[in-house]
Amino acid sequence: MKFDTFKWSDELSIGVTAMDNQHKVLIDKINTLIDDLSEDSPNSHKDFQALAGYVVEHFNDEEKYMESIGFPGLPIHKNIHKQLLEKVGEFDEDIRIGTVDKMKLISFLKMWLKSHIMGIDMKYGDFSQEKSA
Ligand SMILES: [Fe+2]
Ligand SMILES: [Fe+2]
Repeated sequence: MKFDTFKWSDELSIGVTAMDNQHKVLIDKINTLIDDLSEDSPNSHKDFQALAGYVVEHFNDEEKYMESIGFPGLPIHKNIHKQLLEKVGEFDEDIRIGTVDKMKLISFLKMWLKSHIMGIDMKYGDFSQEKSA
């Protein structure tokens, strides 16, 4: 079964170039995983782990960035990251042993990326732009 990949669009831009670039890398990694799942590729678990590792890195960088601009919503944002990482972790074993619900995983990743970037990350993006205006 062929699953649709995720396309970057400008509405996803939060106006902080370094973070936009990381979000683009995240999309690439999600798309690699989606293609693996479409093809029942043996790389699925390896590519999922690469994605999960990058998510950890991105969250760390993002939290450092929010701290550097004195963003007041940092504690709430950190909590949301923590919860997301727990959810990502829950899929790991199912992918490894091949029992993962692919549709569920893909819709979680797509939904998360879009709603987190547009609903949550956008807040520090706006804050940063107001600050430098
Ligand atoms: Fe975030
Ligand atoms: Fe982000």
